[in-house]
Amino acid sequence: MSAGRLDPREATSRRPASDGDRTLAPLGRRRLPVVARREHGAYEVLSVADADGPAPDPGQFFMLAAAERWGGGADERPFLPRAFSVARRHDDGTLDFLLEDVGPGTERLCELGAGDEVWLLGPLGRGFSPPRHGHRPILVGGGVGIAPLAIWQDVLGASALVLLGFRDAAHAEGAALLRDARIATDDGSRGHHGLVTELLAAELSGFALRSSQARTSGRRYTGAEVYACGPPPMLEAVRALCAEYDVPAQLALEAGMACGFGACFGCVVPTTGGYVRLCVDGPVLDAGVLERVID
Ligand SMILES: Cc1cc2nc3c(=O)[nH]c(=O)nc-3n(C[C@H](O)[C@H](O)[C@H](O)COP(=O)(O)OP(=O)(O)OC[C@H]3O[C@@H](n4cnc5c(N)ncnc54)[C@H](O)[C@@H]3O)c2cc1C
Ligand code: FES
Repeated sequence: MSAGRLDPREATSRRPASDGDRTLAPLGRRRLPVVARREHGAYEVLSVADADGPAPDPGQFFMLAAAERWGGGADERPFLPRAFSVARRHDDGTLDFLLEDVGPGTERLCELGAGDEVWLLGPLGRGFSPPRHGHRPILVGGGVGIAPLAIWQDVLGASALVLLGFRDAAHAEGAALLRDARIATDDGSRGHHGLVTELLAAELSGFALRSSQARTSGRRYTGAEVYACGPPPMLEAVRALCAEYDVPAQLALEAGMACGFGACFGCVVPTTGGYVRLCVDGPVLDAGVLERVID
């Protein structure tokens, strides 16, 4: 199966149903078959057939639960559905999700295989906006946060520079989801030994230098636009770097989500304009509206 391609300018106009800028929840969750589960090093990719569902925008997410054995156990967990970014949509509507087993919900989803079923709600939330005219997109991912960058790269194509950071070589196998990525690992077992934000800092300083050279010689030079998803300390470092270099950035954040469509207020995050519900006003927020990314 090949990943469906679309023009980045169309990406934000394909939302299924929106209230102004917000995406409305679809009417109900859908019971859908799992078509495959594949191991990618320390991660699993779960593929779900959703031929009749609305096509997601890159950066949007779905609420997922296994159709069987989800709650009702000894400790009633996982019970609530869990939020997952869509990592890829194939031409036949199959959706890929990249999973890291961190608790009861992800553990149960990582047990599923072809023939099992899931409850799926979405696509939900606001995804990435296209880069400003002529700006080179730089995608920066950390760990399982690379998921929404894969579908975004499908849309942006070869113009995007991809920088990914992982704990070690086993986790770095997740990078196979994207093309032509530069990789950093904490332990140096693959790629650059260090943080992915060190790769970003080098890129941004190169952009800044070329931009100032262009200004002094009267040439027009457009810069970069950063798209990032990963753990909060990584996102905070990306936010701070982009502020330092005056580069626009869109950050895909995470928060604990119970409903996924604005009803429970469990996902609020502070912005310069007050608290927002990440599930309807995000999960992608402009870095400029954040004082800092809270861990
Ligand atoms: C918009 C969005 C997109 C996401 N995309 C992905 C994805 O593509 N792949 C993936 O593996 N995970 C993703 N997550 C995180 C995923 O929802 C959590 O890992 C999952 O809910 C954990 O459930 P659990 O029952 O396995 O573990 P739990 O026992 O519920 O949690 C295990 C640990 O993870 C922490 N945790 C739980 N949920 C979150 C959360 N939402 N944000 C930060 N920490 C959390 C808990 O505090 C705990 O320490 C996403 C979350 C959001 C909000
Ligand atoms: S998850 Fe319920 S309001 Fe956001």
